[in-house]
Amino acid sequence: MKIVILNGSPKGDLSVTMQYILYAKKKIPEHDYKILNVAQQVNNLVKNDEKLKEFLEEIEGADAVIWGFPLYAMLISSQFKRFIELIFEKNLTDAFRDKYTMSLMTSIHFFDNTAEHYMHGICDDLEMRFVDFFSADSWDLLYPKERALWIQFIRIFFEAVETKVPTLRQYPQITTKEFDYLPGEIQNGEKKVDPGNKKIIVVSDSTDENTNLGKMIMRFQKSFSKNIEVINLHDIDIKGPCLGCVKCGYNHECVYSGKDGFQEFWEDKLMKSDVIIFAGAIKDRFLSSTWKMVYDRAFYNTHTPTLIGKQMGYIISGPLSQIPNLKEMMQAYVEIQMANLVGFVTDEYGDSSEIDALLHHLAHKSVKYAELNLIKPQTFLGVGGTKIFRDDVYGRNRFVFLADHEWYEEHGIYDTFPQNDKRAAEMNKKLIPLIKIDKVRNKMDFKQEFLKPFKRVIEDPRK
Ligand SMILES: Cc1cc2nc3c(=O)[nH]c(=O)nc-3n(C[C@H](O)[C@H](O)[C@H](O)COP(=O)(O)O)c2cc1C
Repeated sequence: MKIVILNGSPKGDLSVTMQYILYAKKKIPEHDYKILNVAQQVNNLVKNDEKLKEFLEEIEGADAVIWGFPLYAMLISSQFKRFIELIFEKNLTDAFRDKYTMSLMTSIHFFDNTAEHYMHGICDDLEMRFVDFFSADSWDLLYPKERALWIQFIRIFFEAVETKVPTLRQYPQITTKEFDYLPGEIQNGEKKVDPGNKKIIVVSDSTDENTNLGKMIMRFQKSFSKNIEVINLHDIDIKGPCLGCVKCGYNHECVYSGKDGFQEFWEDKLMKSDVIIFAGAIKDRFLSSTWKMVYDRAFYNTHTPTLIGKQMGYIISGPLSQIPNLKEMMQAYVEIQMANLVGFVTDEYGDSSEIDALLHHLAHKSVKYAELNLIKPQTFLGVGGTKIFRDDVYGRNRFVFLADHEWYEEHGIYDTFPQNDKRAAEMNKKLIPLIKIDKVRNKMDFKQEFLKPFKRVIEDPRK
């Protein structure tokens, strides 16, 4: 069979993910494997129709397509995302229809689930026959058991292609409805929000006031009694996307530092604001690849949060409620930054006065929260994600991410290791021997016992 691999790594042939393919090729040599470095060559594909045609012919001639990619900021790299956009923009979907497919991703398992959902959704949109995904830890191939598992998996995939197994569409098509948002004037009785000394910033990939997004941003601006800053990402000098070189791991210094304006934008604009609103229009099952590039380039801070304590919100044009995966990423991003999610406003329900009210409320709430410095507790997304980072930076990847390690040490991140919890250690020392005594355990009423310390809080007038 002819297997085409769409390589989503900006590193091209130097991709770790592609080593899994090379290993499969070694172990199962009877197939013809063709790797296309689409992410690395995306600029060329955008500009050069001949090159794009060449790649497309390979895809058309394939028995199966593998989307092979590294995780980049909870998703795929901006370059790979741009390639996907190109397929839809240039109406090249025919080449993919009915092709058997799977995704192979490598990562440290930090939000590999969201990347998987996205990729599967795109395959469904392309009407491909999605068989399964394989999410490997970057280093898995170095271990015999994991190598064997990968080969077992890919053999089953090849069998599925040969025997033409039935596949199920998992993600319903996204539907959009035509709607022109008509922002209303601020009503006489409606009080403008005084930002006080709080710095509010809106960042968007479009401020075109002929679009719903542009109009929503404008209406949001008008909610305030003072001017707030709106930054169009296209006005920032961003020389290019993240290249995955990880030079930033040592000192949080990007290879583009001093060569473009990204770091300045991040540090002088975002990091100096109190309220940050990200605004964008949905493109396929995420925002635009421009937005994705921003998320990827922000990785120069690697695993160190830089927006701690900020109030963050999203103004989105498009059917966000149909893509819970996107909402999850947006929420996770805020939580991982140790910031606070104020909320989302979208235009998807098609009611202008409701959008006006929601935007006004977002303005009001974000300033109020900023004044109170209110940061809600993290959910599983922030708690779990932070622990993955902590363990990886403390352990096997410390030498790569020394800047994170130093920051984690200074900021007590390692204090959260459970073995450093003195209270828990004392409690366990006292209670475990007791609980091992049958008579004590059988008499113990856990429901009552668990409530005892809470009761002390409730009943204490000073607390
Ligand atoms: C910019 C950037 C963002 C990343 N984001 C994630 C992430 O969100 N989750 C994760 O588990 N790994 C993340 N990683 C780690 C890579 O996914 C991992 O190292 C991968 O194996 C690299 O594969 P490649 O060599 O094929 O590009 C990121 C790496 C880079 C450079």
